[in-house]
Amino acid sequence: MVDNKSNKHKNYRAKTLGNHTLHPETQMMGYGYDPMLSEGALKPPIFMTSTFTFASAQDGKEFFELAYGKREARAKEQPGLIYSRINNPDLEVLEDRLALWENADCAAAFASGMAAISTCLWSYLRPGDVIVYSAPIYGGTEHLIRNILPLYGIKSVEFEAGGPEPTLPIALDEAKALGRVAVIFTETPANPTNNLVDLEACANEAKRMEAETGTKPIVMVDNTFLGPVWQHPLEHGCDIVIYSLTKYVAGHSDVVAGAAVGSHEVMGPVRGFRTILGTMCDPHSGWLIMRSLETLKLRMTAAAENARIIAEYLRDHPKVSKVHYLGFLSEDDPCYRIFTEQAKSAGSTFSFDVIGGEREAFAVLDNLQIIKLAVSLGGTESLMEHPFTMTHSDVPDDVKIRLGIGENLVRISVGIENVDDLIADLEQALSAI
Ligand SMILES: Cc1ncc(COP(=O)(O)O)c(C=O)c1O
Repeated sequence: MVDNKSNKHKNYRAKTLGNHTLHPETQMMGYGYDPMLSEGALKPPIFMTSTFTFASAQDGKEFFELAYGKREARAKEQPGLIYSRINNPDLEVLEDRLALWENADCAAAFASGMAAISTCLWSYLRPGDVIVYSAPIYGGTEHLIRNILPLYGIKSVEFEAGGPEPTLPIALDEAKALGRVAVIFTETPANPTNNLVDLEACANEAKRMEAETGTKPIVMVDNTFLGPVWQHPLEHGCDIVIYSLTKYVAGHSDVVAGAAVGSHEVMGPVRGFRTILGTMCDPHSGWLIMRSLETLKLRMTAAAENARIIAEYLRDHPKVSKVHYLGFLSEDDPCYRIFTEQAKSAGSTFSFDVIGGEREAFAVLDNLQIIKLAVSLGGTESLMEHPFTMTHSDVPDDVKIRLGIGENLVRISVGIENVDDLIADLEQALSAI
């Protein structure tokens, strides 16, 4: 075998070409991976190994010192590979590439979106603390905050996404009276209503809390709905961006994974907790997600264009009373300004109200032929579901109604099929009402 290792190593972490700054969609094909370390293989091999051999005992000692934060890295010292719960080449390349979309220092990949969310929360919340969170949010996150965190003495105060401006300051002032406000958690656009939260306001309010109480709440944003292509929460002063990679990033409905992205300082405790909780992604899933990242922008662009056409079709449909599509926000809606300042696209997941209730919503879902009746979103194929009884089943009914999640609401994640076929399917399914 030719020893490719004798070839010159290129700078595989360059972010510029001369004066030209490279774009993430270009970088997804090569950033962070040196083929010469893997026999010249163009693509990173899958490192299916639980552990890594050390060249010497001294190396092992030094790798652990660095991994466990027992000392600072020396000049040019890179963390050594130890054990796949701590680090793995596929995850390292994946994490470097995920960080590029947000222009962030680093990322951590997890076994699921919920693993990312729960690990981030465990990293920053302590007994007696309070978390302030926007509503609605994904049902699993809501369950964690509402039912599990209280078992550990952590209280919560909710504020409404898309509500009038003062809802967050009021919630924070209420929370401050209950204990140390350690985290502001938000999901925007909110699943499933697409209500928006002003991220800059969250960051500014966190600073106000710091001035008033001495603790700056960490602002965490679940950016799953618009993904790293259409919204960049760190640019608005937030601290940690969280993803269910299962959705748009992996994008083929065949992987469950998650990620958190942020500065070295903020991500330090998260990475440390991940090592001990063991909530990391596995190398094979990591490799699949790297492959998906190569087409992320293409897929999200195509899906968003299909979604716009479908939203327009549904808006004119006599059996549909309202389409919760971000592109339809009117200028007097409190979310309009947030949308124009914060999002680069209306995305491709939205909900709509059919005229009627559960019976009519189910009739549409049961008659779909092309679009699949399934929860989840962000895949190449279109999916539809009934939030009231499915993804948000666990949220108390009165809370759902207050937040606009009615029994006549159905959610669609628009895929990249031919849009005429999707409209033909919706047309025949809606005629079943
Ligand atoms: C907005 C959002 N965040 C987080 C999650 C949880 O992600 P996972 O299923 O990868 O754990 C979901 C799942 O549907 C979601 O929609």
